[in-house]
Amino acid sequence: MIGEQATLKDNSEIDNNFIKSVSQHDEARQGEALVLDTKAPADGRKLFIESYGCAMNFSDSEIVASIMGDMGFSTTPDYKEADVIFINTCSIRENAEQRVRNRLKEFSAAKTRNPGLTIGVLGCMAERLKSKFLEEEKLVDLVIGPDAYRDLPNLIGQVEDGNRAVNVLLSREETYADISPVRLNTNGISAFVSIMRGCDNMCSFCVVPFTRGRERSRDPLSIVQEATELFSQGYREVTLLGQNVDSYKWTSTESENQQMVNFANLLELVANVSPELRVRFSTSHPKDITDEVLYTMAKHENICKHIHLPVQSGNSRVLELMNRTYTREWYIDRVEAIRRIIPGCGISTDVIIGFCTETEEEHKETLSIMDYVKYDFAYMFTYSERPGTLAAKRYRDDVPEDVKKRRFNEVLSKQQECSAIRMEERIGQTCKVLIERYSKKSDQDFSGKSDQNTTVVFNADSRYKPGDYVNVLIEKCTPATLIGRIVD
Ligand code: SAH
Ligand code: SF4
Ligand code: F3S
Repeated sequence: MIGEQATLKDNSEIDNNFIKSVSQHDEARQGEALVLDTKAPADGRKLFIESYGCAMNFSDSEIVASIMGDMGFSTTPDYKEADVIFINTCSIRENAEQRVRNRLKEFSAAKTRNPGLTIGVLGCMAERLKSKFLEEEKLVDLVIGPDAYRDLPNLIGQVEDGNRAVNVLLSREETYADISPVRLNTNGISAFVSIMRGCDNMCSFCVVPFTRGRERSRDPLSIVQEATELFSQGYREVTLLGQNVDSYKWTSTESENQQMVNFANLLELVANVSPELRVRFSTSHPKDITDEVLYTMAKHENICKHIHLPVQSGNSRVLELMNRTYTREWYIDRVEAIRRIIPGCGISTDVIIGFCTETEEEHKETLSIMDYVKYDFAYMFTYSERPGTLAAKRYRDDVPEDVKKRRFNEVLSKQQECSAIRMEERIGQTCKVLIERYSKKSDQDFSGKSDQNTTVVFNADSRYKPGDYVNVLIEKCTPATLIGRIVD
């Protein structure tokens, strides 16, 4: 795979926990239409909603579906029969925005055929472009940012009155804690639970602080309640979502002795919902991940032994320009702590290639840190300058495209080497797998995830069904899938 970005996950078996990256790379999953299980009667108005970008966006679409469900909308997988089309957008790289614009062209053609159709742009691109969107895209009726979804009934009303509507207000408090998400496109086994919103870090390349606003944490009681409800509905895995989960922090103001809940405490609370409920989380920040979090993971069998720890670059000068606030040495220290406290823990990462002023030597340091950590998998991106970010203001995007491409390919082949080593290490081991579904390639096979978040495929056995745990002896592997058989 040669190109601007890539993942080493196997496209045929989608990794739920990294929809963000998979959806950014995997054409098959691009802009997936979300279908549900709805609150509304089937003869009511129909909503088609398509999501791009990270898991937070997919999770937000479930909030939006819930709010629209209360207004009588059911969802449809076919935008041609929809009364309302929503596209939940991502701004992280230029090509993510381009993809949305291309898709909007198709929706606009539908609107020309059916003038009663409402087209709404949601999410990060809506927030970034605000009302400019309405100027640029003449057939868009509604623009709404990630913190304004409660205003949808009002905005839909404005559109019904013949106006175009915009709300891109960011909030310091909104967490949608009281809204029960309508689970979209679900396998009934794993679900996302949003634990915080926004981001207070100012990584110089990143548009997220501008599109998602200030960081705020969600009430832990509402998180535990959501996890408990999911478990009672048959779900067996929750992924706690935030841009930087390690800075989760909630201070209860209700009792007299103020109680603080940090991410380690929250993990424990959710792990205690049931030993049969697997807990995952994403994303960890190398500057904030604490030994307390690692010890909590080690203590609870049901907290999965996998950490997504984006490195971005292996060179301290580049990291400083990126404003990541850690050095190569600090990152390595965190990896050593993970290995010491949670032996065998899977580690994955994100890498940005060709950031402003990156030299050949500095690029080699990225390759060498990959060699050192031997990531289980990685998401790799060539740097894409985003308007308004610190890097766009301060530094020149001066690494030539052909150099970025060549370095990208070097990072990609390094990761292929590392993934192969990690996959082969698992051969001969027995791992506990949560069965998620029948394999996409054959209904004779089950597909699920190992603790370390690797897809495992094995012979279906009538004694088991999706949602059950089984022990699988790993016998062989492909670049992104472990293959084995159930052992009792
Ligand atoms: N909050 C997460 C990541 C959010 S964005 C974290 O801090 O790790 C997901 C990934 O997109 C980032 O980790 C980074 O590798 C990549 N990314 C973000 N901005 C980018 C840009 N301008 N160009 C290329 N890749 C970018
Ligand atoms: Fe962006 Fe950095 Fe925040 Fe992640 S931690 S969302 S990369 S600013
Ligand atoms: Fe996510 Fe893209 Fe926004 S990665 S937070 S949807 S810019």
